[in-house]
Amino acid sequence: MTAPQSFADALQILGCSARKNGNSDYAARLFAQGYEAAGGTTQTRFMRDYTVRHCTACETCAVPGNKKCVQEGKDDSSELYSMLLEAPALCFSSPIYFYHLPSIFKTFIDRCQCFWFRHHNRDPYILSLPPRKAYVCLIAARPVGDQLFHGSLLTLKYFLTPLNISLAEPLLIYGKDGPTDLKNDPKTVQEVIDYGAAAYNDTVPLLTRYK
Ligand SMILES: Cc1cc2nc3c(=O)[nH]c(=O)nc-3n(C[C@H](O)[C@H](O)[C@H](O)COP(=O)(O)O)c2cc1C
Repeated sequence: MTAPQSFADALQILGCSARKNGNSDYAARLFAQGYEAAGGTTQTRFMRDYTVRHCTACETCAVPGNKKCVQEGKDDSSELYSMLLEAPALCFSSPIYFYHLPSIFKTFIDRCQCFWFRHHNRDPYILSLPPRKAYVCLIAARPVGDQLFHGSLLTLKYFLTPLNISLAEPLLIYGKDGPTDLKNDPKTVQEVIDYGAAAYNDTVPLLTRYK
């Protein structure tokens, strides 16, 4: 695959595990495989490769007209912010840690409070962002659990809303713990590939059951 010139040229995939070469890294690869086989282009990056300082709740970003978090420039967040602003579509592939998203990802999500305030303050650039979709693969060790993914999906929905990004129906994968558990489950492997292809064909409906 030729490297795209900017975030706008490809669906942007973010792998969110602290563990390299585990299940969610593999799901990210399978999603890309399905999306690209259907005709699209993807670009993948991993949250663990970025250093992101935590939100200090200073509320500098709450002041109308302020466009930047005070932490930007002191860490690697700029690239991730640009990805969110410019991507035509996104995919988040993440494990569940204690019924939620891993802290490395949640730290970045908290830093997106600056977008929440910019939206709240009617910043024209934020209000002009086009509607986009985010695909989600969540992977957990527990084999069952009605609420296993709820917290993560609510957080993803409300972190992305100010950016005009809506969640597509997610792919929720139970019972995968060891790093090769997904790889060794051909049925689920095919489901992730199919999810990527459906994303390219825009046949995945929006997630509507979380309010
Ligand atoms: C800190 C931590 C917390 C976890 N919490 C949960 C949990 O609440 N529920 C669950 O089913 N699995 C939990 N797991 C298991 C992971 O979700 C599981 O191993 C997953 O496959 C890891 O994905 P990865 O290979 O992409 O890192 C936890 C794992 C870690 C490291």
